[in-house]
Amino acid sequence: MRENLIEKAKKVLLGNKKKGFTLPTNNKLYPAQWKWDSGFIALGYSHFNLKYALDEITTLLKGQWKDGMIPHILFHDLNTNYYPNHSVWNCGNKIHSSGITQPPVLAIILKKILDKNKIKVNEKTKIKLIIKKLKKYHEWLIKYRDPRNTGLVSILHPWESGYDNSPLWDYSMNEIKVEKNLKYKRGDNKVINPEYRPLDEDYDRYITIKNHLRKNKYNPKKLYNESMFNVVDVGFNSIFLKANKDLIELLKSFNLEHNNLQKFILKSENQIEKLFDTRKGVFVNYDIKNRKKIIVPSITNYFILFADLKNQLINKKIIKNLKNHNQNEKYLFSSIKPNYGKFEEKRYWRGPVWINCNWIIYQGLKNKDKKFANKIKENTITLIKKNGFYEYYSFKTGEAFGANNFSWTASLFLDLIFDKNRTN
Ligand code: SER
Repeated sequence: MRENLIEKAKKVLLGNKKKGFTLPTNNKLYPAQWKWDSGFIALGYSHFNLKYALDEITTLLKGQWKDGMIPHILFHDLNTNYYPNHSVWNCGNKIHSSGITQPPVLAIILKKILDKNKIKVNEKTKIKLIIKKLKKYHEWLIKYRDPRNTGLVSILHPWESGYDNSPLWDYSMNEIKVEKNLKYKRGDNKVINPEYRPLDEDYDRYITIKNHLRKNKYNPKKLYNESMFNVVDVGFNSIFLKANKDLIELLKSFNLEHNNLQKFILKSENQIEKLFDTRKGVFVNYDIKNRKKIIVPSITNYFILFADLKNQLINKKIIKNLKNHNQNEKYLFSSIKPNYGKFEEKRYWRGPVWINCNWIIYQGLKNKDKKFANKIKENTITLIKKNGFYEYYSFKTGEAFGANNFSWTASLFLDLIFDKNRTN
């Protein structure tokens, strides 16, 4: 049974594979290369084909902009129904791309891959180049997304978080005036039941923000102050903190300089703790544009566990809260706490379970609460076994939604199955 599923997971990845990169799914929903999908996909390949894993990352980095930015989408195929497509983004370096980024998971993934695999001497040069490019990307985030030196980086579009229509962004999105006479045609809700996708009113704002970024020529110097959306997201910053720690290890192993990153980590650890509301016992996101605290019970606030904060009081408190996130329900974790007013069981990032979130939290808990971590791992494996390799699932019934044959679900399934900490 397990063997069968392992083979099926590999088949999902190979079925979505194109030349040098892999689609997030084989239906027409996402006909391009996505940044954080690619990271998770590389990890999946590393369990059976190291070359494919490194190719995935190498191709993604071919699209890195000259200033260091790694775009969230690379449009390798220009002939698709995806919107917004390459021509409306109208940017890119060597490869047509979007003009925004996505969670910085690559250094974390690369470290995981290198920890597990012996790298041949002739691959070392290639890996060193990848590490240098990742360093340039991290420096870009620090320079342009934290120009005031606060230790926390901003995202300038909800798509940069990866959790597009999360209630985390409701307040900030409501503040955005939709551009007049906006004309565009969504492709996503023709492929997937619109009940599972973001609303038109969300898309109006996604496109309004995108058009504004384009008008500003995606100039990172200007956009921190000018963007219509500027938010400090705990999830994104937690991933960045962990990625910086891992990148330093990678840099050290190649005798490359890392002082700047070390300084940033110290500042970032201090500052992120300040986003913890000790009275309520929760992490708070911050809307820089509107100077407003955002308190939404999103699973992504628990990504902080992944960053391994030294503050054990905070760690203890949030693990306790995490155990209450969806108590008594099997399929950990709903992306939004089910008793929250804006929770929706089936709609994209407003409630469903996402395998990458479970995986991130599992990684963060392994060294803090092994029993709980293993429960998450086992429940996630069971969820996929019962319902297939889908994009997202109901936290209550396990019912699957969104795209089938979803690459990161297959990849992270493989990673969980092959995890050494398995209890059985
Ligand atoms: N996740 C977005 C989409 O649905 C874009 O990154 O297309």
